[in-house]
Amino acid sequence: MTDITAKAESWGSRVGLILAMAGNAVGLGNFLRFPVQAIQNGGGAFIIPYLVCFLLMGIPLLFVEWSMGRFGGKFGHHSTPFILDSMDKRAFWKYVGVFGIFTNLAVAAYYCYLESWTLSYVYHSIMRDFAGQSPEQIAGFFGNYTGTPGAETYVFWIICLVLNTWILSRGLSGGVEKVAKIGMPLLIIFGIFLAVMAYTVKAGTNGAINDGTVGLNFLWTPDFSTIWSAKVWMAAAGQIFFTLSVGMGSIQCYASYVKPKEDIALNAMSAGWMNEFVEVVLGSAIIIPISVGYLGIDKVVEMTKNGGLGLGFQTLPYLFEQWGSTLAVICGAFWFGLLFFAGITSSLAMGTPCMGFLQDEFGWKRENAAWAFGGAVFILGLPTVLFFNYGVFDEYDYWAGTFSLVVFAMIEIILFAWVFGMEKGWKEITTGADIQIPIAFKFIIQYVTPVLLAGVFISNIPFLIDKITNADIYTELAKTTDVAKKEFLEKKIIYVNMARLLLLAVFAGVSYLVYVAYEKRKREGRIS
Ligand code: PHE
Repeated sequence: MTDITAKAESWGSRVGLILAMAGNAVGLGNFLRFPVQAIQNGGGAFIIPYLVCFLLMGIPLLFVEWSMGRFGGKFGHHSTPFILDSMDKRAFWKYVGVFGIFTNLAVAAYYCYLESWTLSYVYHSIMRDFAGQSPEQIAGFFGNYTGTPGAETYVFWIICLVLNTWILSRGLSGGVEKVAKIGMPLLIIFGIFLAVMAYTVKAGTNGAINDGTVGLNFLWTPDFSTIWSAKVWMAAAGQIFFTLSVGMGSIQCYASYVKPKEDIALNAMSAGWMNEFVEVVLGSAIIIPISVGYLGIDKVVEMTKNGGLGLGFQTLPYLFEQWGSTLAVICGAFWFGLLFFAGITSSLAMGTPCMGFLQDEFGWKRENAAWAFGGAVFILGLPTVLFFNYGVFDEYDYWAGTFSLVVFAMIEIILFAWVFGMEKGWKEITTGADIQIPIAFKFIIQYVTPVLLAGVFISNIPFLIDKITNADIYTELAKTTDVAKKEFLEKKIIYVNMARLLLLAVFAGVSYLVYVAYEKRKREGRIS
């Protein structure tokens, strides 16, 4: 039995599609991850590799993923296993496509948790709960919230999951598109307001030690010194992948609901460039100038050494307080509200490939597919909530949110340019195009992007080995003499290994479902 509504699913309007795709890309990555990556990698030294990666990997992959999606959609496929399957006869491609479901599930598992913090912080900002607190108290609130999750942590998390599920169950035009149409403009308005506030931070006023422009200059003064640093390039490539949501399978899924002859070239560029605007203009203009204004560059660099979530949640609420109570409420609600809209329009995108798969292959109703996704995210997310301090959250982010993206992108572009064939591929990209795409991209997609991707992957291997063997934790363990710390690190190794096994099991589970779906198709004579 095939569900009729699933077949009829499509985007309501072009604006809606572009905003939904932009919402998919614009996420917590733009406001929390980007500034931290930029700070950790030397500010102006980061921005050059970053922009090069955008042009040579980001844009080509956007073209490839949009056209793959629209192509698969013609055969009624909405998730990567069978989208890839429709591009070549060989049976194993659909198992490569498992990445495009696995990654979305696993990223959603920690992403929705993070998204739920923003809801809680909107609430606390409005209730003035950060008023009159010391920096330590505000930072401590975050430590407690995530370190020893209590009722509140769970309540906001569940609210967030239910909200996502409910919107997904209303479908693309009835749910996802509506949220994007409201959320994206609001996010941009909030962002511009906060950027102006940050710009006007003045040394000597309200306790600031630097002008807001000091932080901006740190980021925007080009520094060529690190141009040969593999680490900086890796970080830049990783950020481009994460922020554009490429290598994930969610773009293919959204694009599979585009009509066969409809433009994808201009749409892909509109959504992609909108993401870059939000990232490099708004994303760089809030956290960095404000925190550098109050704390100075050195302190901020120090604070982001062990990841950077701290700045957004631990420091900003305190700094807003320095502007007086009215502005503290407005800025707190705007900042965390902006993060919430950025987050939810992305987590919705993570839900659609899983739903598309269940609907296409097993004839599930949309509502049921949405609840299945919500349930899976709850179960998979639980370890990130329970064992946050033991690094489970970061472990998910590394394997699902970083490693898998590069691997999947590398394989899919080879499939596209070399197996499906670049001539056919170029035709797919340019069919219905409302812009003239520079022919150079044909060459870039075929040669430059795959080589760069392979380069990123290969230079990552040493780091990968360290990661798998838990080298960092063991080094720390060897150095410490503190019994409690030793015990903590030993536990951490166990939890981290368990998280990996769990992720592996999810991958295997999805592969099995793909196998079952394939057998089912064979029985029903639906093999294309
Ligand atoms: N691009 C989103 C961000 O910047 C993250 C994301 C990843 C969204 C995968 C959808 C799919 O936060």
